[in-house]
Amino acid sequence: MSSPSAIGFFDSGVGGFSVLRHALDAVGGAPLLYVADSAFAPYGARSAAEVLQRSRLITRFLLEQGAEAIVVACNTATAMAVEGLRSEFEVPIIGMEPAIKPAAQVTRSASVAVLATSGTLASDRYARLRSDHGRQIEVHERICRHWVEAVEEGDLDSPRVFDLVNAELAPLHQLGVDTYVLGCTHFPFLAPAIRAVVGEGVNLVDPGPAVIGQLRRRLGLLPAQTPSASPVRLYTSGSPAQLQRHAQRLIGLSAPCHPLST
Ligand code: DGL
Repeated sequence: MSSPSAIGFFDSGVGGFSVLRHALDAVGGAPLLYVADSAFAPYGARSAAEVLQRSRLITRFLLEQGAEAIVVACNTATAMAVEGLRSEFEVPIIGMEPAIKPAAQVTRSASVAVLATSGTLASDRYARLRSDHGRQIEVHERICRHWVEAVEEGDLDSPRVFDLVNAELAPLHQLGVDTYVLGCTHFPFLAPAIRAVVGEGVNLVDPGPAVIGQLRRRLGLLPAQTPSASPVRLYTSGSPAQLQRHAQRLIGLSAPCHPLST
């Protein structure tokens, strides 16, 4: 059997680890390459043109390293750049978007909140998603300011983080929201802080597993295939030592990390 082709992942920083973690033993041992564009994070504060330019450079870099499929492990980059990437590159490009559709299926109060960056929420893609799947429910949107920066700093559970989460979510909880769409890949790492504010009884919808399910289908992997660990290589436009520490802390991953040369 020929060895499986590498798969490239990228995000503005460490958020994409919340997607990568579901691929570690789920893609038949294919090597996984991960780029954290930390020197340019957060993407949510950048223009669509800048995010498209970074996404193109990184995709080209990942293809040069041997990737034969790309996972845009970032809602913001998907919203701003996935169409441009698909028109330029021929490999499969898997994007991600706020999981309104699954949220609409699990909410009992018919009241859902989408937590995302301003870039994602302002995009045409998001407007289409909302009008396709959010008609029968009440959809609240929150730009969760400074959450991405906190995760990038490795701050997941300090009093400052609790205050940031409380400021956004306590009013939604009061309104009866019972389902929170984690519409930014950094946010699953804040799940304990989110639960501390809104309680254990609510749904937190993380699209990471579904994205890897879609990747597996695109790669033609069989549902019954046995788990097989993938080697991982990390790259960053920021500090390699810091990214390695984050990989260990956030997803228990120990992998070599190189500077991103684009
Ligand atoms: N993790 C990203 C997302 O899913 C981007 C956050 C940012 O850089 O603003 O949207």
